[in-house]
Amino acid sequence: MESLKTNHRCCFFMLFLHLQLVLTGDCPADKRTWVPFNNRCYHFVHGDEDKIKSYTFERAKTLCKGFELLTIQSADENEFVINYGKQVWKDKVNMWLGMYYDTNSEDMRWVNEDPVKFTNWEDSSDQSDLMPLETCVALHSNTGKWENVSCVDDVENGVVCETNQKAEEAKQKPSALLSALVILSVVAIMGVSAVIWFLHQRHNLGSTLFTAFEYHPPFRVLETDQSCLVEAEETDSVP
Ligand SMILES: *[C@@H]1O[C@H](CO)[C@@H](O)[C@H](O)[C@H]1NC(C)=O
Repeated sequence: MESLKTNHRCCFFMLFLHLQLVLTGDCPADKRTWVPFNNRCYHFVHGDEDKIKSYTFERAKTLCKGFELLTIQSADENEFVINYGKQVWKDKVNMWLGMYYDTNSEDMRWVNEDPVKFTNWEDSSDQSDLMPLETCVALHSNTGKWENVSCVDDVENGVVCETNQKAEEAKQKPSALLSALVILSVVAIMGVSAVIWFLHQRHNLGSTLFTAFEYHPPFRVLETDQSCLVEAEETDSVP
């Protein structure tokens, strides 16, 4: 029975390890929590890393420790980030976007130099009174819209760091093979366990049946009954 337990523990461990591999993808292994989405990884700065909570844009960037601030290329990505952000920071409303005002192109650019294709500006008719060079962008978790904010104020914006997943194509095949191997070994271990369990049960059942049909000599039963009767008579005869 002990070996059966060990088998199960080993098989759950393998499954866990596998899930861990699949879930974390090829995200940085720096002991922080990186969440993969499509071919990127995201780290939502929270808990002990987020004690001060209010940062300027420059300060927010340093929290990413060598990685970039959040950039957004699609409506899907926008949606993913606001949903995940709501789970991580229940109270925080906005997040910093890794955008800055470029004086050459006189436009907003992403910090990682990706072209700005997708945007989700909130509708505002009033001209922002921010200096172009002090214009940074925050993403509203409630609406998903982007707003121009000051880069130099300490704003209570969540910090999300982002990086590309490494060599995802090369990883695809080994991952599928690994899945197949893990599933096969789990099935095999389950099968062996089931057989061991079945044999064990049958052995138990066998011995129970054997005890049930154990031979009881009728004499002994009679003897006890008689002695009872004798005893009863003796008690009765006492006046
Ligand atoms: C924010 O500023 C940029 C650059 O000046 C501008 O293109 C964008 O429309 C502004 N967004 C809002 C919502 O005002």
